Amino acid sequence: MDDKRRQHIEPASKRPHERPLGAVEMMYSAAEIGARVGALAADIADAMGPDIMVVAVLKGGFVFTADLLRALHHHGVHPRIDFMTLSSYGTGTESSGEVVITRDITDDVRGAKILLIDDILESGRTLAFARALLQERGAEMVRLCVLLDKPEKRKTDLNADYVGFSIGDAFVVGYGLDYAHYYRELPFIGTISTD
Ligand code: IMP
Ligand code: MG
Repeated sequence: MDDKRRQHIEPASKRPHERPLGAVEMMYSAAEIGARVGALAADIADAMGPDIMVVAVLKGGFVFTADLLRALHHHGVHPRIDFMTLSSYGTGTESSGEVVITRDITDDVRGAKILLIDDILESGRTLAFARALLQERGAEMVRLCVLLDKPEKRKTDLNADYVGFSIGDAFVVGYGLDYAHYYRELPFIGTISTD
């Protein structure tokens, strides 16, 4: 592997609550992500117009959402923004399938054109749950935007309207995405071996 695309991490440790260790291999650099986020913002602004509400799914969606919002600003979009923390129980690389709200939005969504943003679409259960909830509460429209899509892992018939990158069945970290609560701060997206 090209050494510049590998993040070197200190020697292995077995103590609890420490970052799980392994080598992270870069998949998309910060520059590649930035370019893609700019293009997505242009598409979203064209299709949805300036007057939208953004609902970002935490925790994983926070970095992508922050960058996408600023890119949307350059296209004249001035959204309201709210956050919802959803959890599908589990700290490893497989989720359980049961989605729970650990922090709800506080804004009124009735009549809103919503852009629902998450880090990654895998089984589709998280976003299917969130979209249904917003629709039940009276949103006029809910469009889905994800940084990453893993179509091979889908367990629902859900698809995103806006996708940053479509990837295979790798476990990825960085740019908001975690492995066991770590690695969210990496400015790039990389794969991690979890064996
Ligand atoms: P879904 O409900 O199966 O679509 O799962 C989506 C959620 O699982 C995402 O919001 C992430 O929190 C998590 N997830 C799925 N794949 C990955 C991954 O490769 N890295 C980190 N988190 C992931
Ligand atoms: Mg998530």
